[in-house]
Amino acid sequence: MKNPAQDKWNNKYRDRKLGHKHQQPSDWLKSHENLLKRTTPGRALDIACGDGRNSFYLASLGFTVDAIDISDVAIKWLSQQVNDQGLSIKPIQGDLEEVSLREESYHVIVNFIYLQRGLFPSMIKWLKPGGYLFFETMNIDHIEQLKNSMNRDYVLEKNELILAFKELELIDHKELTVNTINSEQRSVSRLLARKPSYS
Ligand SMILES: C[S@@+](CC[C@H](N)C(=O)[O-])C[C@H]1O[C@@H](n2cnc3c(N)ncnc32)[C@H](O)[C@@H]1O
Repeated sequence: MKNPAQDKWNNKYRDRKLGHKHQQPSDWLKSHENLLKRTTPGRALDIACGDGRNSFYLASLGFTVDAIDISDVAIKWLSQQVNDQGLSIKPIQGDLEEVSLREESYHVIVNFIYLQRGLFPSMIKWLKPGGYLFFETMNIDHIEQLKNSMNRDYVLEKNELILAFKELELIDHKELTVNTINSEQRSVSRLLARKPSYS
């Protein structure tokens, strides 16, 4: 059965007219550029990549990026950019509720503004030993910012990322409020963690 998220996000991306409003990569991801550069050349996975703002950035550093999203509108647009600009990004249209990838494939996995709790164990499996996970999405404080109009299932509980990824080595964890490019406030949890290397 088709996931209703596909139509929902296709409509959003059609309305947004992809490419008209330039989306910047995450500042937090960019602040770790030195660590990322030490990891290249390598393979990266952008989970629920949307218009690929973080995929473009990772490709610019030398990563070969698998960029997965359910929206065929977003993936078609991204594929066009990749062809036109000759980028090392492989756009993949797929439902992350069903996707299966090879274990220990990625040096870096990024997950921004997307929450699918069932995917947490897979993310750990998909990382290569020594690989890095960057995770950022809204947390429980965001519900108050939206005056309780958001379902609690779609936001992280406090410290949830630390517990979910406790088998990784924690490098950075923060729960904070950030300003979006639309000057709105958004409370997020961030985690940067590394999969232990074989000893
Ligand atoms: C808020 S956007 C975030 C996009 C991107 N990560 C970013 O930070 O700009 C959420 C994305 O999740 C994608 N998405 C929603 N459900 C999905 C699913 N089941 N499988 C794959 N992608 C999905 C949507 O199409 C959308 O592009």
